[in-house]
Amino acid sequence: MSAVLQGQPLRRAMTVRDLDAVLTIEQRAYSFPWSRGNFTDSLAAGYLAELWSLDDAVLGYLVAMPGVDELHLLNITVAPEHQGCGHGRLMMAALQAHARRTGAAALWLEVRESNHRARALYRGLGYAEVGLRRGYYPAAVRREDAVVMRLTLAAPPPGA
Ligand SMILES: CC(C)(COP(=O)(O)OP(=O)(O)OC[C@H]1O[C@@H](n2cnc3c(N)ncnc32)[C@H](O)[C@@H]1OP(=O)(O)O)[C@@H](O)C(=O)NCCC(=O)NCCS
Repeated sequence: MSAVLQGQPLRRAMTVRDLDAVLTIEQRAYSFPWSRGNFTDSLAAGYLAELWSLDDAVLGYLVAMPGVDELHLLNITVAPEHQGCGHGRLMMAALQAHARRTGAAALWLEVRESNHRARALYRGLGYAEVGLRRGYYPAAVRREDAVVMRLTLAAPPPGA
C-alpha cells in the first residue's frame, strides 16, 4: 500500500541537539509520547538512535537497545505527513541489516495491540507475535496490552 519513495532518505546518529525536532514529531505521532527524558536517557545509555531525513526535513527516527545477542526496538516513528510512503519499511530494513552486521540473533519489539498498521508492517517483515504483556501501555480508559514480536535472524554465512 506504500506510495513510491520520493528522493533518497539520509540517516545519521541522533544527538541531543535533535531533540526539539524529534519531540515535535513524537508529540504529533502518539497520544502517549516519549518524554525528553526518555530520549536523553537512551542517548546517554549509548543505545542505537538514528535520525532519518529527506531534504533537511526530519522524516523519522528509531531507538533500539542492544542486548547480549539481540536488539530491542524501543521506538520507531515516521512524521505523520510522511507516513504510508515506505519510510517505515526502509527504516526497519536498515535496522535489520544493522542487527545482522553486529551479530544479533534476534530483534524484539512491543507494539500496542490496537496498532494494526505497525503490526502489519512487522508481520510483513517476518516478525512473529510471540507474547502479550498485559497492561503495558498507558491508555485513555484503562491500560493497553502490548504484543511482543520477535524476528529471528539467521546466522550470516561463513566468511560473510
Ligand atoms: C508504524 C510506522 C512506523 C510505519 O511507517 P510508515 O512509513 O507509515 O509505513 P510504510 O509506508 O513503510 O508502510 C509499511 C507497512 O505499514 C502498513 N501501513 C502503512 N500505511 C498504512 C495504512 N494507512 N493503513 C494500514 N496499514 C498501513 C502496511 O502494512 C505497509 O506495508 P505495504 O506497503 O506492504 O502495504 C508509522 O506509520 C508511524 O510512525 N506510526 C506512528 C507511530 C507508531 O505507531 N510507531 C510504531 C510503534 S510500535
